[in-house]
Amino acid sequence: MNVLILGSGGREHVLCWKIKQSPLLTKLYALPGSSAISEIADCLDIALDDFEGIFTFCEQKKIDIVIVGPEAPLASGIQDFLAAKGIKVFGPSAEGAKLESSKEFAKEFMRKNEIPTADFKVFTDYEKARAEIKNMKHPLVIKADGLCAGKGVRICFEERESLSALSDFMEKKIFGGSGTKIIAEEFLIGKEASIMAFVGGNDFLILPVSRDHKRLLDNNEGPNTGGMGAVCPVNLDDDIAGAVKKQILKRFIDGLKRENISYCGIIYVGLMIAKSGPKVLEFNVRFGDPEAQAVIPLINEDLLEIIIAAVEGKIAEKKLSIKTGACVSIVLSSGGYPENPEKGKEIKGLENFANSQEIMIFHSGTKKDSGKWLTNGGRVLNIAAIAPNIEEAREKVYFSASHILFDGVHYRKDIGL
Ligand code: AMP
Ligand code: GLY
Repeated sequence: MNVLILGSGGREHVLCWKIKQSPLLTKLYALPGSSAISEIADCLDIALDDFEGIFTFCEQKKIDIVIVGPEAPLASGIQDFLAAKGIKVFGPSAEGAKLESSKEFAKEFMRKNEIPTADFKVFTDYEKARAEIKNMKHPLVIKADGLCAGKGVRICFEERESLSALSDFMEKKIFGGSGTKIIAEEFLIGKEASIMAFVGGNDFLILPVSRDHKRLLDNNEGPNTGGMGAVCPVNLDDDIAGAVKKQILKRFIDGLKRENISYCGIIYVGLMIAKSGPKVLEFNVRFGDPEAQAVIPLINEDLLEIIIAAVEGKIAEKKLSIKTGACVSIVLSSGGYPENPEKGKEIKGLENFANSQEIMIFHSGTKKDSGKWLTNGGRVLNIAAIAPNIEEAREKVYFSASHILFDGVHYRKDIGL
């Protein structure tokens, strides 16, 4: 089988690494890929919004299946475009991708399908929002409706902060069109977890539960980031795990059917385990990043076989066997991340891990230039380690991190604590 992976980050690197191990694979390609991905897949610099270019590539290389990494091409309809030309895609239709690209769509979907989530109200008028928010209970969560690269959510402890969020999103339009509509949502207290499941053929297959660490600094301090590290598994109590399956994933599948939404791919549920039970904070329509880097290494099965089953609508026939033990994955980020990440710093020490079976390095933002690895983004590297338990995986990861050096390198020291 010829497989094409769309994307260029750490999530796509771990996907390529795992798919490369599949006995079903003939040739692996990635668009645009990265220097690190090009060591295991053939890459070509075609942009993810160049649908015609991607289609021509699929024809030339006789691609059997396209696996979409990030959300943006899904929201723009890459699945619909390629499927109409007879190409199989692992990733939902644009309608399905609205579950991530529009928070209002996601919240209405949950309301209609009785999926537990925080109470909310949608506003499109700035003055009306200002007037009503004054009467709403704080803390209050204000969310921009559209895609904002993880920055469109503000937890507002006082009215003053809510008004400032409204002004930023609706008046100053700091996220452009993404903030013309906002959601004001009940503040939930609890522990968060990331649930991912394969979806295909009106059924789902759940992956082991993981947890992301979104803030930049230890003890959940500092600004929100794309994610600074993840651990897997996260053990849920039986009643919570049952509720996740029955009240969230089952109702999600039933809702897709009821609303005639074509969906094959991954559903990611950002979960808050509140006192009253698990509630959905957000849906993403693709693997989480950095969750994928902690979850995929623990899968025993051939990932390609499972993805094919999802695309053929046969996910119900599949089971997942998961390695015993745990995986911890941390992110090494650039100085200045998340606001103004520095680029072009030389990375030293990667050669120490070239042949390791236990320590895996996935590249998020690097490039190779004249034989040297350079930083090329905010999140630079993920170091993932598998061990019999989280504590030992942590030890391995942090021991490894101390051997990788670049100017301004930053990582959290408390991932998995
Ligand atoms: P989201 O992009 O909707 O997942 O929100 C980003 C982060 O904001 C989440 O991971 C939570 O930490 C926090 N958050 C979002 N919604 C709520 C809520 N209703 N109550 C408390 N925290 C929230
Ligand atoms: N780690 C959260 C996300 O992928 O959106």
